[in-house]
Amino acid sequence: MSDRTAPAPAEALVTSRPLDEYCGLFGLTRAGIAALPGPLLDCPGGAAALAAEARPLGCRVIATDPVYARPADEIAARVLAARAAMAAAMDARPDLSPAPRHRPPDRYLRSWDRAHRLFAADRAAHPGQYVAAALPRLPFADGTFALTLSGYLVFAYPALFGPERQLAALTELVRVTAPGGEVRVHPLCDGAGRRTGHLDAVRHALGERRITSEIRTVPAAEKAGRPRRVLVLRRADHRRNGSGPPRP
Ligand SMILES: C[S@@+](CC[C@H](N)C(=O)[O-])C[C@H]1O[C@@H](n2cnc3c(N)ncnc32)[C@H](O)[C@@H]1O
Repeated sequence: MSDRTAPAPAEALVTSRPLDEYCGLFGLTRAGIAALPGPLLDCPGGAAALAAEARPLGCRVIATDPVYARPADEIAARVLAARAAMAAAMDARPDLSPAPRHRPPDRYLRSWDRAHRLFAADRAAHPGQYVAAALPRLPFADGTFALTLSGYLVFAYPALFGPERQLAALTELVRVTAPGGEVRVHPLCDGAGRRTGHLDAVRHALGERRITSEIRTVPAAEKAGRPRRVLVLRRADHRRNGSGPPRP
């Protein structure tokens, strides 16, 4: 339910996922995050706890999202609305629930509540790491980030991102990522769980911009979980010589 059975909102939900959920979605490990040779970009960051939870691992995360231009109480209200939408969606379509099968929805949503608390405290303490900006234009220099993650936006909200905007957004995410780094995008379906039909066309257009793409299947983090499809993007002109950054 990638925010899946929720009615298509006019604006994106502001969700608050913890680091471990990010790891499961993108095929990452805490050790891999700790070993990154440079900063990680979370775009959109929403109200996620990634920056807060990665800091003790020694990883600097920059989160970027247009909602960071809004006051904290307004963000908190949108996080509560997203939680309610997800609770209703999990109730309506338990088969599509993102919660691990053996874990009650309540417990899953409590992990979002905790992540939101971590996010709010971290943003207050480290405001410079939360940058208000919107795809497809980001205020970062070329090649700034060792790894860029983009969860639940580019393909999840086709009403906000049509094919041209998707292409512009993905190209921008690659621009700000280091030549030897990766962009990982998930999910590759819309809010109703329908696979993006024009994904091959987007990948072809990316190829024309010298961006290589791969669809990587990330095994389920939990025994009864579902494998995830992640779009992985890299600059085609970067040659791996064995001394590049390790894959997290
Ligand atoms: C469903 S949340 C995803 C947050 C986080 N990545 C996650 O997986 O929980 C979608 C976020 O996209 C943000 N957003 C909407 N339009 C955007 C844009 N043009 N560029 C970047 N972020 C945007 C929203 O403010 C919202 O916080």
